[in-house]
Amino acid sequence: MSSLHLLMSLCLLVMTVSSNLPPPRNVRIISENFVHVLVWENNYLNASVHYITQERSQWKPVDKCSNVTNQLCDLTEYFTDLLGNYQGSVQSFTHNAISNISYSALFNPFESTALGPPIVRVTSCNKCVNLTINLPKSPTVSSDNNPILKLFNDYSIQYTIMVVTPNEVSVDPL
Ligand SMILES: *[C@@H]1O[C@H](CO)[C@@H](O)[C@H](O)[C@H]1NC(C)=O
Ligand SMILES: *[C@@H]1O[C@H](CO)[C@@H](O)[C@H](O)[C@H]1NC(C)=O
Ligand SMILES: *[C@@H]1O[C@H](CO)[C@@H](O)[C@H](O)[C@H]1NC(C)=O
Ligand SMILES: *[C@@H]1O[C@H](CO)[C@@H](O)[C@H](O)[C@H]1NC(C)=O
Repeated sequence: MSSLHLLMSLCLLVMTVSSNLPPPRNVRIISENFVHVLVWENNYLNASVHYITQERSQWKPVDKCSNVTNQLCDLTEYFTDLLGNYQGSVQSFTHNAISNISYSALFNPFESTALGPPIVRVTSCNKCVNLTINLPKSPTVSSDNNPILKLFNDYSIQYTIMVVTPNEVSVDPL
């Protein structure tokens, strides 16, 4: 073995036992209809997830995501305060190495969730069409604690219904 090869082999050996893994990339919270999912990229290495609430007292482990390889973790049950501020973190590990911790941006459920489309049903009735519009389904299904209902009330969100017929270029809202 040439001395250069020997040197490179030694370097590789040192790197595999002592160096950090690259930290998880692109750590972010994707949220639709108040379902909050932390996602990241780490080439499907094992990872552990923590979260912190706005009191920022301490990072808490997410037990169900303490050793996961699928690059996502549903945090809906932890982000319980609609108006709270939360943050998630991810750390990659193997049996002999650990990465630096990567953090998501601050996350507020109420401000940051994306509202999905309404659930629309069209049925025909006697010389009429019956259009039923329901709010998107949210994970908290209790009448006095429906986050989507709160969103609609607080922001006066409205749906616009239009009738489109073939060949008609512009349509007016009903
Ligand atoms: C981990 O963080 C330390 C301190 O910020 C930094 O010096 C080091 O380069 C980081 N390691 C990796 C693999 O990114
Ligand atoms: C991760 O899970 C695997 C399989 O369940 C287990 O063998 C391994 O010890 C766990 N690693 C840690 C650090 O908990
Ligand atoms: C990583 O996770 C896989 C699948 O859960 C498991 O088989 C493996 O033992 C884990 N590795 C470590 C280092 O915990
Ligand atoms: C329209 O649909 C709603 C919900 O399915 C139903 O309660 C209502 O009776 C229907 N109206 C007519 C005129 O069919």
